[in-house]
Amino acid sequence: MKRFVIWFLMLPFLCPGQEKAGDEAHGIYPYDRFEKPEVCKACHVDFYYQWDQAMMSKAYTHHWDEIEYFKLAVPHAEKDEKVAGVKAGCNGCHSPLAFMAGNTPPPRPEENSRANESVSCDVCHTITGFAGDTPYNFNFISKPGRTKMGPKPGLESPHHIIQQNDFITTAEYCGTCHNEKSPYGAWVKSTHLEWQEGPYAKNGEPCQTCHMPRAEGKNAIIATETRIIAQHLFHGAHDPGKLRGVIEMRMHPNLREAEPGEPVVFSLQLHNAKAGHKVPSGSAEERVLWVHVEALDAEGKVYHLPVDKKGFPGEEYTIASEALAYQDMGVPLGIPDFPGIRREDLPLGDRIFRLPYLDPQGRMTIMQWNTASFGPDYRIGPRETRVETYTWTIPDDISAGKVSVKAALYYQKLPRPVQQFLEVPEEEAEPVLVNTAETYIEVFD
Ligand code: HEC
Ligand code: HEC
Ligand code: HEC
Ligand code: HEC
Ligand code: HEC
Repeated sequence: MKRFVIWFLMLPFLCPGQEKAGDEAHGIYPYDRFEKPEVCKACHVDFYYQWDQAMMSKAYTHHWDEIEYFKLAVPHAEKDEKVAGVKAGCNGCHSPLAFMAGNTPPPRPEENSRANESVSCDVCHTITGFAGDTPYNFNFISKPGRTKMGPKPGLESPHHIIQQNDFITTAEYCGTCHNEKSPYGAWVKSTHLEWQEGPYAKNGEPCQTCHMPRAEGKNAIIATETRIIAQHLFHGAHDPGKLRGVIEMRMHPNLREAEPGEPVVFSLQLHNAKAGHKVPSGSAEERVLWVHVEALDAEGKVYHLPVDKKGFPGEEYTIASEALAYQDMGVPLGIPDFPGIRREDLPLGDRIFRLPYLDPQGRMTIMQWNTASFGPDYRIGPRETRVETYTWTIPDDISAGKVSVKAALYYQKLPRPVQQFLEVPEEEAEPVLVNTAETYIEVFD
């Protein structure tokens, strides 16, 4: 009995790495403890090609990820002790195999190493749980080997053992990589925390409901039975179709008929109807969601309507201006006294729905790991509605007749000035039309 107890107490030492998670998991498993996605492909053909189309398979190789990691994060980590941990830490989520192999920094994507597998099948299907109370900063527990975690009980495979594990069906599972805390203690990614506070958590609808929708099919080409299975789509901000219509809009004037010199107030309602978290979420430091309002008179002349100010603290971050920002990039780029670049490149006065990330000096940053505090959170929460107003004094020289007023909501993954400055491919800053709303007034002489 006594001998058994001693063996039991020694178990954690005999199986090193078994419960290590987050930063502690650096270097615990060599690459070859994980199977390649191509191995799974032999039987799970559909899942393989779904994953291959999703950002999950590109989390390390995608151009902008490569640029941000090698141009900004790695040199910054080498110059500033406070953020030294991100040199390895970025890969905890973007290339878990490289992180767990202790391969820091990993070879560049063009070298075709196993780091390129990004968030692979075997990464996700050997996660057994997470350490601590809150999922964040890759604190998942990984147990690579023949046993794969799955949602369903009682399945069998000739290639591996299947263990039914409810954790894989929870939002906390996703939260291990979709919540991130900076070295300054700021929640710089909080998709799971936003979800947890919102209506979808209360209704018991986790991330999987919307990002891994169910359909009838076969799990594997050799499977004998058809089941209801989770499609590995992971549509997100990189899919214009997922963004389209995510916010519903309507607009109306406070009077239908007006004459030159008279002020008319247009109200615009924006409702987050489809996302289980705020919009934008995730990499909010670099997402720009903005609405542009224009009036068009009977002769086709266009007038731009700037948004009415509400007067809350920090509102200036939410209204397009010529302000400069991102000065902290000067440190990794080796530019002393870097004056910064344009914060955004949009029509002045347009409303922006964003969360400004502020560096330790209080300047806006896109280097989320260098975030010490935030400006006002002016994003649109799940099932939340925001109302913007536009007071427009009818110009004297306007043509009489019908004036139509149109609002267009756009989403941009990366501000254009940052895309140009860091030489990121143009597509990363391409505006996507999310929705439009239209109304009209009649103008009399
Ligand atoms: C030789 C074929 C084969 C290979 C290779 C294979 N699997 Fe499977 N796998 C199966 C079969 C068969 C099933 C059960 C299908 C069923 O009954 O619906 C299955 C089921 C699963 C399940 C589902 C469990 C559930 O609860 O629904 C997971 C997860 C899984 N495999 C992961 C993997 C991963 C990850 C790899 C690659 C590392 C892999 N498989 C490689 C044949 C294979
Ligand atoms: C009710 C459906 C729904 C639920 C639940 C949901 N999402 Fe989403 N998600 C969406 C929609 C729609 C979008 C597109 C809008 C956007 O990009 O903000 C999206 C976008 C995203 C994005 C890209 C965000 C951005 O702006 O860059 C990520 C990452 C994401 N979801 C992860 C998650 C995670 C993790 C969870 C669970 C904690 C979750 N989602 C729950 C519907 C949902
Ligand atoms: C980001 C993590 C992630 C990646 C990457 C991933 N999966 Fe999954 N997989 C899941 C989750 C989560 C579920 C269960 C969803 C649920 O039931 O809510 C799942 C379910 C499955 C199932 C069972 C489907 C069902 O509903 O019965 C199979 C089989 C599977 N995955 C195979 C694969 C293969 C093969 C790959 C790589 C080509 C892969 N997965 C990549 C997270 C992942
Ligand atoms: C091991 C870490 C990890 C886990 C676990 C994980 N993700 Fe992700 N996910 C990522 C990374 C990293 C990216 C970013 C890829 C990129 O853009 O470089 C991503 C991207 C996404 C995107 C695409 C966002 C976009 O902008 O297009 C969606 C949607 C998403 N994840 C949803 C989920 C859901 C749902 C789950 C849980 C079932 C999950 N993820 C689990 C790491 C993870
Ligand atoms: C806790 C997990 C985690 C860590 C740590 C992390 N990321 Fe990410 N990263 C993600 C997820 C998840 C997304 C996708 C969010 C979304 O689409 O909104 C993402 C998105 C990105 C994107 C945007 C991709 C795009 O195309 O818009 C870049 C670039 C990026 N990460 C770089 C980094 C760098 C550099 C580091 C280290 C300083 C880092 N990440 C650390 C999880 C993480």
